[in-house]
Amino acid sequence: MFLCCWLALTALIPLTLSTNPGVKVKLTAKGLEYGRQLGMVSIQKKLKTIKVPDMSGKQRVSPIGKVKYSLTNIQIVDVGLPTSALDLVPGTGVRLSIAKAFINLHGNWRVKYLRVIKDSGSFDLKVSGLTVTTSIAIKSDETGRPVVSTVNCVAKVGSVSVKFHGGASWLYNLFKKFVEKALRNALDKKICTLVGDAVTDLNPQLKTLNVVAKVDKYAEIEYSMVSAPAVTKASIEFGMKGEFYNIGKHQEPPFTAAAFSLPPETDRMLYIGLSAFTANSAAYVYNTAGALSLDITDDMIPRGSPIRLNTRTFYVFLPQLAKRFPGLMMKLLVRTAKAPVVTFEPNKATVEASSTVTAYAIQPNATLSPLFVLNMETSASARVFVSGMRLAGAVNLNKMDLTLGKSYVGDFQVRTLNSIFQTVLKLVVIPILNVQLAKGYPLPALGKMNLVNTQLQVLKEHVSIMVVSEAPCSRSRSLGAVSQCPTVPLREL
Ligand SMILES: *[C@@H]1O[C@H](CO)[C@@H](O)[C@H](O)[C@H]1NC(C)=O
Repeated sequence: MFLCCWLALTALIPLTLSTNPGVKVKLTAKGLEYGRQLGMVSIQKKLKTIKVPDMSGKQRVSPIGKVKYSLTNIQIVDVGLPTSALDLVPGTGVRLSIAKAFINLHGNWRVKYLRVIKDSGSFDLKVSGLTVTTSIAIKSDETGRPVVSTVNCVAKVGSVSVKFHGGASWLYNLFKKFVEKALRNALDKKICTLVGDAVTDLNPQLKTLNVVAKVDKYAEIEYSMVSAPAVTKASIEFGMKGEFYNIGKHQEPPFTAAAFSLPPETDRMLYIGLSAFTANSAAYVYNTAGALSLDITDDMIPRGSPIRLNTRTFYVFLPQLAKRFPGLMMKLLVRTAKAPVVTFEPNKATVEASSTVTAYAIQPNATLSPLFVLNMETSASARVFVSGMRLAGAVNLNKMDLTLGKSYVGDFQVRTLNSIFQTVLKLVVIPILNVQLAKGYPLPALGKMNLVNTQLQVLKEHVSIMVVSEAPCSRSRSLGAVSQCPTVPLREL
């Protein structure tokens, strides 16, 4: 008793100490239904591979005495699985129930009795009213990928009826019950094994979960599960790390994931929630990698713009430039001073960044003469969208505040430069940033799956992606989370 409680307690400890997931994926009963359809195809295929071994032996049949018999070349002719259900079992996984299944077999029979009399023919065997009930446990493997296994499989054959062709009917009618029983036993043993195989055949597909997804030359994102999947009666929820790292250097940021909840509804097939933590770990990684910096030169400013990046532009605000750096081209170095901060509130995604802008005059011999350093606080609103299996974004500048960091050219009113720098941000920095953001960041995915019919909502602390409904599929099977049948990760099911 004590031991059992102690074991139960120690089993709980890793869960309570585990980190909050940065990304959550919720698979609903609707999503499972899609899986069931594919799963049944796989089970049917498996059952068609049943090999019933040849059987032979002796049976005493009165009044003729011992009959030597053999049943050979037993083949599956047809397997039907008209009724099945996949139900969620809270705390465990799912339960697969198959009912009214049937298997038709064909084989040859041969008998020998009274030492010399031989007889042979063929037979058809109908196995009907077959039920299979099995629980499928869903766990996390050592790499943080989901893994499924069957537990408690029970298969029951409803009725078995054999029909012999050829030979003496009086004989095989004496025999019938025995054959039925032998074949029923042979099948009883195999069905659960084959259903179990069909289920574990899923694991190679589940192993394709991109637990480490490369983003670009700076970053990768980790999607390993941080805890066992949580199964309720309406859904299975997977908690994943959802954290960006510098490639090859897994340094933790100075903040951790806050708990967040996916929307409680379960009417869509699949929900993916990405937390502000995930977005902020990205910001941290790119900032640490020094990737959030940009050299701006005049050629990057669109031709039609009234603002040119030369000292002349600044004469009005900084007359000193006219004297010391007359008619020189300029260069601006914009770089983040610390990692930008992303916040998600209902219908509102915001990115706040603190940067420095260093302005240089470019001497005719290409030497850069520093003019001034500005501190720039910016706030941008972000639009987030799904593009294939990637989450992409675009930002729009809302607010910019400049203060003087350092001047090499004497005092000046920084405020007067606001419109120049706003224009530079809008014409150069934001478009370049948006090109990067539009490339997107990989979402958790299996194989080559593709999300279609998605809706995205910015909610408190996270972005929720909903896979709305079933999508058409070229193979005419209705599909949901995946658009192209040939690349369905579960296609082998
Ligand atoms: C480049 O020109 C500037 C200004 O004329 C001068 O101060 C600097 O010494 C020159 N640098 C080199 C490397 O020639």
